[in-house]
Amino acid sequence: MLLIRNNAGLKVFIAQLQKNGQRIGFVPTMGALHEGHLSLIQQAAAQCDVVVCSIFVNPTQFNDPADLEKYPRPITRDIELLQATGCDVLYMPDVEDIYPPDLDTTLRLNPGKLIEVMEGEFRPGHFEGVMQVVKRLLDLVTPDVLVMGQKDYQQVAVIRFMIQKLRLPVTLYVAETERETDGLAKSSRNVRLTQKWRSIAPVIYQTLSATRDKLGTLPPKQLAEAGFRALEAAGLRPEYYRIVDGVTLLDLEKVAKNKPMVVCTAAWAGDVRLIDNVILQP
Ligand code: PAF
Repeated sequence: MLLIRNNAGLKVFIAQLQKNGQRIGFVPTMGALHEGHLSLIQQAAAQCDVVVCSIFVNPTQFNDPADLEKYPRPITRDIELLQATGCDVLYMPDVEDIYPPDLDTTLRLNPGKLIEVMEGEFRPGHFEGVMQVVKRLLDLVTPDVLVMGQKDYQQVAVIRFMIQKLRLPVTLYVAETERETDGLAKSSRNVRLTQKWRSIAPVIYQTLSATRDKLGTLPPKQLAEAGFRALEAAGLRPEYYRIVDGVTLLDLEKVAKNKPMVVCTAAWAGDVRLIDNVILQP
C-alpha cells in the first residue's frame, strides 16, 4: 500500500492513474477503522481499479473541541488493517493540505432542513464541516466512485445533495451497515462502551427493527414515540427517534406507498453517543 502524506504526491499519483484510464474508488474516513470501514474498502475494490482511503480527522465538523481532542487516532493499527484489506493508497493529509491558509474552502451551499433536522439539531455546524471536507477531498482525489456507509444515513443524504447541486462528476455508492451478531451497528465508538452498555446497546437495532415490523399499524409519529420510549425503558438516553422521508428527512405524517422511508435515531449509551437507522421503504 502506498502512503501519501501531501497534495503534491497525490497529484502526481492521480495524474498517472488518469493517464492509464484506471477507475478510482474513494473511501473517506477519520481513522479508528473497524470492519464497517474495511467493508467499504472491499466494495470500492469490487467496482474500481484502484482504491484510495483517506484518514483525516476533520476539525471543521466537530462542534465540541473536547470531542476533537479525544477522537481516537490508532494510526499504526489502521495502516495494518488497510494493508490486510487490499487498500491501494492511504492518503493522510495535514490540516494545511486540506485547508491551506491562502485558499478559500468555504462552501456556499445551503441544504436547508436536510442539515437542520436530527443530527443537525444536536450537532450544529457538523454537516457544513462534513460537506466542506468531502468537497475538498473529492477535488483532490478526483474519484470515479465515492463509497460511504448507510449507517450515517443523514450524512449520505447531505453528500448526495451536494453532489447533485454542484454537479460533481462522481458516483455515490452507499454500502449497507455492518452489524455485530447481536445487531449493534459497527462503529469506532463501540470500543468505548463499558460491558454494561455494550449489553444494552443492541436494543437500538432491535427497536428500529420492531418499528419496521409495525409499520402501517399506527401513524408514523406514534410509532416513533413508542420507539423513543422503548430506548428510554432500556436505560438509553435517546436524543431523537424519527420516521422520516428518505430524501428530504422531514417527519412523515402517514405511510405513503412508493415513498422512501427511514427510521433514524441517536441515543446515549452511558457516555457514548450511538446512531443507527433502518430503511422502512427503499
Ligand atoms: O463519516 C466520517 O467518518 C466523516 O464524516 C467523513 C465522511 C470522513 C468526513 O470527515
